Amino acid sequence: MTVSCRLLTVVAILGATTMVAIAAYLPVWAFPPAGSGGSRPATAPDEGGAKHVPGSTVTLTRKQLAAHGPAVPDWHPEDHPPMPEIVAKGREPQVFACGYCHLPTGAGRPENASLAGLTPGYIKMQLLAFRKGERPGSDPTRGPQTAMIAVAKAVTDAEVEQAAEYFAGAKPVTFLKVIETGTVPKTYSVGGIFAKDPGGGTEPIGSRIVEVPEELDRFEQRDGRTPYIAYVPVGSLQRGERLVTTGGDGRTVLCATCHGPDLRGLADIPRLAGRSPSYLMRQLFDLKNGARTGGATVLMKATVANLSEEDMLDIVAYLASRQP
Ligand code: HEC
Ligand code: HEC
Repeated sequence: MTVSCRLLTVVAILGATTMVAIAAYLPVWAFPPAGSGGSRPATAPDEGGAKHVPGSTVTLTRKQLAAHGPAVPDWHPEDHPPMPEIVAKGREPQVFACGYCHLPTGAGRPENASLAGLTPGYIKMQLLAFRKGERPGSDPTRGPQTAMIAVAKAVTDAEVEQAAEYFAGAKPVTFLKVIETGTVPKTYSVGGIFAKDPGGGTEPIGSRIVEVPEELDRFEQRDGRTPYIAYVPVGSLQRGERLVTTGGDGRTVLCATCHGPDLRGLADIPRLAGRSPSYLMRQLFDLKNGARTGGATVLMKATVANLSEEDMLDIVAYLASRQP
C-alpha cells in the first residue's frame, strides 16, 4: 500500500439549506480503506480445534469465537475487574459490547480508541457527541466509526454511566513499540487496520506511520495483550517532541497546559501519552477539518489551526512513544 492520500468528497450540510462539498485528502494510514487484499487468503483455513492466546488458560473453538459477538472473549480475566453487562456482553441483538471493540481492559485497538483512565465526564460527553452527529469523522463511511455512532445511539444513559465508571477505573496500558525507520513491511488493510502482508517484502515508509499488530491472529482473536509496532519516519520523534513541548515557535500551543504535565490527562481533558498514533491522527485531522465538534473541542481550535499534516504525524509519533 504505497498511496498516501485518497480523495473523499464529504457533503456537509451547513445551516438548514446550504449544501457544500468539501474535498478532504485523507491520510490513508490513519483511515484504512475497507479491505485492500494482500496475499493472505480471504478466509483463513479452518483449523477446527481449540484456539488459545499466549499467557491465557482460556480455550475457545474457532466456531465459538465466530459466534461470540456481540460479547467479547475474555482471554485474561485477571487483567481487569468484573465487567458490567454492557461492557462484557452488550445487549442482544443489536448493541455490541463496549469491550468487544475497546477490549475488557479498555486498551483499545488502532481502529477504535483506548478508553482506560479517561474520566467519566469525558466519556459521557463523547457518547453524547457521537449521538448528536458531532463526531462523524473525516471519512463518514469508515466502518468502525459508523459502528461507534450506532452504539452511542442505542445505549441507555444508565448503560453509559456504568461503562464510563468502569473504563475510568481501568489502568492505562500499551503494548505498542514505536520504531523510527526508513523502510517498512508491505501491508494491506484488514478489519479497519493495516497488517503485514504475509507475502513479505518491504517498501519506503514515505510520509506515513505504519501501525501493525505483531501477530494478526491475536488481533483477530481480540487478545487484550496483542503487541503492536508503529513504524514512524526517521526524525519524527524529535520534531514531534519540539512541537509538543515548545509549540514550535508559535505554530501550535503547549499541549501540557491542558493535557497535563506528563500528557496523562487533566480533569476532563483526555490523556494523550502512549495512545495509538492512528487514533490520535484521526482526531487531530477531524478536529482541524471540522469533522469533530461539540464537547470542549473549541479549546483545541488554536492548537490545530496552523498544523500541517506532517506536523500532526510528527506529533502523534511522539505522543505514542510516551509512557501512558
Ligand atoms: C463496534 C465497535 C465499538 C463498540 C461496540 C463501541 N465502540 Fe466506542 N469507539 C469505537 C470507535 C471505532 C471509536 C473511534 C472513533 C474515531 O476513530 O474517531 C470509538 C471511540 C469511543 C470513544 C472516544 C474516546 C476518546 O478518547 O474520545 C468513547 C468514549 C467510546 N468509544 C466509548 C464507548 C462505550 C462506552 C461503548 C459501549 C457502550 C463503546 N464505545 C462501544 C468503536 C466501538
Ligand atoms: C487550551 C487547552 C488545550 C490545549 C493547549 C491542547 N488541547 Fe488537545 N484537547 C483539549 C480538550 C478540551 C480536548 C477534548 C475535546 C472534546 O471535548 O472533544 C482535547 C482533545 C485532544 C485530542 C483528542 C483526544 C481524544 O481522546 O480523542 C487530541 C489528539 C489532542 N487534544 C491533542 C493535543 C495536542 C497534540 C496538543 C498540543 C500540540 C493539544 N491537544 C493542546 C484541550 C487542549
